[in-house]
Amino acid sequence: MKNLFDISGKVAVVTGGSRGIGAMIARGYVENGVKTYICSRTLEQAEATAKSLSEFGECIALGADLATMAGIEKFVAEITAREKKIDILVNNAGAVWAAPLDDFPESGWDKVMDLNVKSVFFLSQKFLPLLRAATSRDTMARIINIASVDGQSVPKFETYSYSASKAAVIHMTRVLAKRLSKDNITVNAIAPGAFPSEMTKVVLKNHKQMMLDQIPLARVGATILFCDRRMFSVEMSRALQYTLTK
Ligand SMILES: NC(=O)c1ccc[n+]([C@@H]2O[C@H](COP(=O)([O-])OP(=O)(O)OC[C@H]3O[C@@H](n4cnc5c(N)ncnc54)[C@H](OP(=O)(O)O)[C@@H]3O)[C@@H](O)[C@H]2O)c1
Repeated sequence: MKNLFDISGKVAVVTGGSRGIGAMIARGYVENGVKTYICSRTLEQAEATAKSLSEFGECIALGADLATMAGIEKFVAEITAREKKIDILVNNAGAVWAAPLDDFPESGWDKVMDLNVKSVFFLSQKFLPLLRAATSRDTMARIINIASVDGQSVPKFETYSYSASKAAVIHMTRVLAKRLSKDNITVNAIAPGAFPSEMTKVVLKNHKQMMLDQIPLARVGATILFCDRRMFSVEMSRALQYTLTK
């Protein structure tokens, strides 16, 4: 049983791992012996996070703007120059936009869709050679997409492109999971509820009670959920590898 959940020696890429949920995921991997790449547009912040996580293991920071195809290709090329294979790709980087329906701007649609949906597809596509290189008859590589409960239920806030993007990611996860099962690559999505982060800072400051009212236990997420070894085991578990594919 102990070995079933052992992920040491693997290589992971966590997009947007410089802060928030991505940094929590990266920490979970680093602490469990995974060589972990993180990225963000702000290289300094990614480097600071990588430095603090390097206390627990190996963490490497890269600068990347994944909202553009050029940025995606550059990022994949940088990892390809360093690694022969990657075992785990976590498509975590995401953006949100809130505005009243009548005023919702095209820029708030494109920004969110480009990062939350388009980049998830093209990063997964362009990392396929490295992911395939990590597989064998007995070993599967993993793509883990960070979706949101907002992709499963109607959100309280006017985040039209965000909820549409997360619903798209959840369905794209199913579609890719079916196709990539032939390549020994599992594709799963995690749909977190509210976590305190840069993304939710304003809403938690101004509308905390409204947010808590939507949550039966009336509490927001905590680092422990993503860093706890057993939660990582669940995410990695062979038992759950088809969760969203059925
Ligand atoms: N927090 C929540 O309550 C919650 C709930 C459900 C789902 N989620 C999802 O969880 C994921 C992480 O959210 P979070 O709350 O941790 O957000 P966050 O604190 O805002 O972190 C987002 C990360 O993505 C990076 N990023 C943003 N735009 C990028 C770009 N164009 N290219 C590369 N990296 C970029 C950010 O760094 P830079 O800005 O420096 O680029 C940062 O590292 C997102 O997909 C989000 O939708 C969050």
